[in-house]
Amino acid sequence: MSNVDEIKARLDIVDLVSESVQLRKSGKNFTGFCPFHSNTRTPSFVVFPDTGTWRCFGACNDGGDIFKYVMKKEGYDFPEALRRLAERAGVELRQYTPEEQEQRDELDRLRDLMEEAVTFFRHQLVSTPAGKPALDYLHGRSFGDESLEAWGLGYAPNSWDALLNHFSEKGHSPEDLLAAGLIGERESGGYYDRFRNRVMFPIRDSRGRMAGFGARALSDEDQPKYLNSPQTDLFNKSHLLYGLDRARKSIRSEDEAVIVEGYLDVIGLAQAGYTNAVSPMGTALTEQQLRQLKRLTRRIVLALDADAAGDKATLRGLQVARQTMDHSADPVFDPRGLVRHEARLQADIRVTTLPEGQDPDEVVQADPDAWPRLLDAARPIVEHVMYSLAEGRELDDPKVKTEIAEQVLPLINDLPNAIERDTYIQKLARLLKVDERSLAGPAPERRRPRPFARPQPPANGAAEGAMLAPHLQDSTFKLEAHCLSILIRHPELIYRVNRALQEAALERMSSEDFEHSDLQEMFRLSLDALEQDILEPASYTLDNLPLALLDRADELLQTSQQLDPSGERVFEDLLRTIIMLRRRKLHKGNEQMRFLQQAAQEEGDLKASEYQQVMVQNTLNLQRLDKAYGAFSNRNLSKAK
Ligand code: UTP
Ligand code: MN
Repeated sequence: MSNVDEIKARLDIVDLVSESVQLRKSGKNFTGFCPFHSNTRTPSFVVFPDTGTWRCFGACNDGGDIFKYVMKKEGYDFPEALRRLAERAGVELRQYTPEEQEQRDELDRLRDLMEEAVTFFRHQLVSTPAGKPALDYLHGRSFGDESLEAWGLGYAPNSWDALLNHFSEKGHSPEDLLAAGLIGERESGGYYDRFRNRVMFPIRDSRGRMAGFGARALSDEDQPKYLNSPQTDLFNKSHLLYGLDRARKSIRSEDEAVIVEGYLDVIGLAQAGYTNAVSPMGTALTEQQLRQLKRLTRRIVLALDADAAGDKATLRGLQVARQTMDHSADPVFDPRGLVRHEARLQADIRVTTLPEGQDPDEVVQADPDAWPRLLDAARPIVEHVMYSLAEGRELDDPKVKTEIAEQVLPLINDLPNAIERDTYIQKLARLLKVDERSLAGPAPERRRPRPFARPQPPANGAAEGAMLAPHLQDSTFKLEAHCLSILIRHPELIYRVNRALQEAALERMSSEDFEHSDLQEMFRLSLDALEQDILEPASYTLDNLPLALLDRADELLQTSQQLDPSGERVFEDLLRTIIMLRRRKLHKGNEQMRFLQQAAQEEGDLKASEYQQVMVQNTLNLQRLDKAYGAFSNRNLSKAK
């Protein structure tokens, strides 16, 4: 049970509210005059002990749980309300466990250590005779001092223990240096510097914090050409993108991200004024990496060198190529994977091929204006593969036609959109000069539209907690939790839901759609998460969540782990659940009004008509919701047929 549940289980809402409102028992519930708006005529404020909630059906038309009550009453924000009520309930709020805290501190310490290493390497490069050849090399490749400084480039001296000694003298333990990936351990015991006689590239995470190093050899004998930090807690090659911390702003403003292959390409492009480029770390692009870019822009251009992009062997048998190639070095261009990522992320990924034998860095040095032209020439992945495969081939030969078709068709069949598939089939047919029908072949497996599914709130397993905290068994709570489990992970769906709501002349989503304060708080944070672009939305929310809500958030995140946010079903389910929640609220209001009206009539109270007015308004709103809900469900029913 989360802290919030525990507090709710221990505090009686009727007791709490009674301190400031005179309540009267009215059936199962309690009524009184709303403390939040001035009205002494009709008691429109109701407390529902069953669900631990309250609501004003009058002018405020607001409601919530005990947290919301004290927030509104005392002007607290959620964390403050949490502290106060926890104290009152005698609940100890969750803190970071000592292990968690230790782990966080440990990572911070390693980052600091690597930051010191940046300074050390930089000093070696710019202020020591040993660094002179490296500096000359970089100058010789036209990298200016300003760039070198901006990117924090450095030099690792040609020594087995220069770094080790330097940091040992400063009091750092070999264990820390090892954990930071700066030294290696000898089998015979003892340690040695991992990076020797190399140009050092600090690699930072998307928030600009040190994560690791890339290191380029200066002599051809030194292999590999690039040596990276070992995989550590901080250095995760499949997550990081070199230069993202610096490129973020221009990726946003230019609404385009460019992916190049090398660190020096990123730096060279930036020096030439093209600041929206990033590079992976010598590995194939992962969905994780593309997802980070997708949060800044839909438009992603891959600038691949002629070898990687056009290599027939690579394009032909990716599986084979994968197995036989040296994993550590060459990045693999994997069109099939990319097409799938593109569809899942709803991104627009294009590929442009660099002139034979040239890197982006060489292209811009020769002619800075050539770069935008190259990017303009980028083509969709499928087209890129199609034309690269056809280049220089004898297209009149039926064997060649078959060979190319066999490679391109699976890619086309992976596309989720029928119009796109048709368009590429036509293009391929034209390229190979064959009839489209001969390319259609056996129908590819298409995903069938799923039948209309009712929203299914996750079963709440915490049985023993449920007995203590009645709201956990409440179906409204379950529906709210269900919405949040989706939104906390994919807040961008809020935009889509709002569009649909507004089309149906309904109000946009707000935290008022949730009655439970922990869920409201998560909703607010999910909105904030959309406003920032540094972290994945779910990580942002978790980072900023009061610790006491962490368990609940974890629980919700677990239930939505497998969801595909681009799937129609998820979106429709969400929309229906929200409308359903709003309907419930109004129904509940009407029920309550009827009850109050009756009581008033029995007592000969003339204010009964005021309840009538609220009910009329509620009913009108209900009709609007019903209409929207009906229209929505019909649309889906007919689509699913
Ligand atoms: P390149 O060999 O194309 O090098 O590798 P580069 O970046 O153009 O460097 P220069 O211009 O020759 O100095 C491209 C990227 O692949 C990764 C590195 O990230 C490099 O920037 N790589 C390459 C490795 O990780 N290991 C290697 O051995 C080689
Ligand atoms: Mn290069």
